[in-house]
Amino acid sequence: MDSSQQRAALHAEVARLHGTPLYVYDLSVVRRNLKRFARFDSVRYAVKANSNLAVLRALREGGARCEVVSAGEIERARAAGFTPGEMVYTADLMDRRARALVGDLKLHVNAGSASMLEDVATVCGPGQVTLRVNPGFGEGHDRKVTTGGAHSKHGIWHEELPAVRDRAEALGLRVTGLHVHIGSGLEGRFVERTVESMGSAVALFSETLERVSCGGGMSFPYAPGEEAFDLEGFAETWLAARDRWSRELGRPLTLEAEPGRLLVADAGVLLTEVCGMKSTGREGATFLLVDAGFHSMIRPLLYGAFHRISTLAEDGRPTTPKMVAGPLCESSDVFTQGKEGAPAPQALPDMERGELLMIHDVGAYGAAMASCYNSRSLPAEVVIGDDGAASLARPAINPNHQLELEKELLP
Ligand SMILES: Cc1ncc(COP(=O)(O)O)c(C=O)c1O
Repeated sequence: MDSSQQRAALHAEVARLHGTPLYVYDLSVVRRNLKRFARFDSVRYAVKANSNLAVLRALREGGARCEVVSAGEIERARAAGFTPGEMVYTADLMDRRARALVGDLKLHVNAGSASMLEDVATVCGPGQVTLRVNPGFGEGHDRKVTTGGAHSKHGIWHEELPAVRDRAEALGLRVTGLHVHIGSGLEGRFVERTVESMGSAVALFSETLERVSCGGGMSFPYAPGEEAFDLEGFAETWLAARDRWSRELGRPLTLEAEPGRLLVADAGVLLTEVCGMKSTGREGATFLLVDAGFHSMIRPLLYGAFHRISTLAEDGRPTTPKMVAGPLCESSDVFTQGKEGAPAPQALPDMERGELLMIHDVGAYGAAMASCYNSRSLPAEVVIGDDGAASLARPAINPNHQLELEKELLP
């Protein structure tokens, strides 16, 4: 058996053991991806992309720190072994649960709004803080993930920074970090412009600044032929800026990257069982009906995102353009859709009930965004370790637990 046949056999075996839909992550891919960021002074993994404990632990062991955005993520990061000093809490607001945990652990906060400074001063007391800057423009693979510009709820508007500096000082907060993240799925068009904008912010906080974070958002090439993000060029531009600013300030500034997707996207596949096939008789309108739906992976529905779909191994069967659709009572429950739900069939063979399909590159924002819609389970997650062995890392979560709690409340 060659290595792709071995992997197909392993996928078939874990699907048999744990059922489908099933996420499978290859931790060696996560570790390899982390090494690509070695030129940055530090790498802070955005936990929201994939919060599986085994994935978090692999990244921590590889030397990453982490960025958390909720009390739940703080708890997960701690369970994976991250110390409070290795976490930064990023948000534009702090809810009650987060206030309690951030305060208890004295987490460093990356404040995305001026009003959060009051929260930080109240729950953590005087100390250090980072400010997330909205430089006035944004970029992303979809409008929904563009996090800069006048209509974004994220970050402190760049023109407000002088007033925020005064407010922080009055509250006894030292601004030691500046952070920018203008969106997810960046192509790199705005790197120079972002650096220039951050240069003005660096000058404004020159007395206290220690760190600059260039955020995450680096795009991943999901579709065949799509250009890969120029991480080398991106790092080069930011490192040159770090060196220039350090010279101007007369002391070393550190540069941090905060990727999510690029560390985990290609580490994950979603295995799903074919439950039937049907056709309207029109071209490209043959449907493979599978047991995964947008409750298992919502990116195609949410963004018109492309994910390659294949059989477990190349088996030489003839293919035709096919749609792949899930079990939910929603017409949008289709994996092969583009923007605005446009049909985007993929080349697949005719398949029998019980055969498996594999949805590729779902390690980022796949399981992390899954839900129990239609009272269906959250999928289980399996990891493949460095020795090639697979183990269950998260069991499927059946909403029947919720059902039991609700039954108890019925009069
Ligand atoms: C503040 C912040 N940092 C980092 C990320 C990671 O982005 P990506 O997964 O696109 O690299 C996000 C994603 O939304 C974010 O909001």
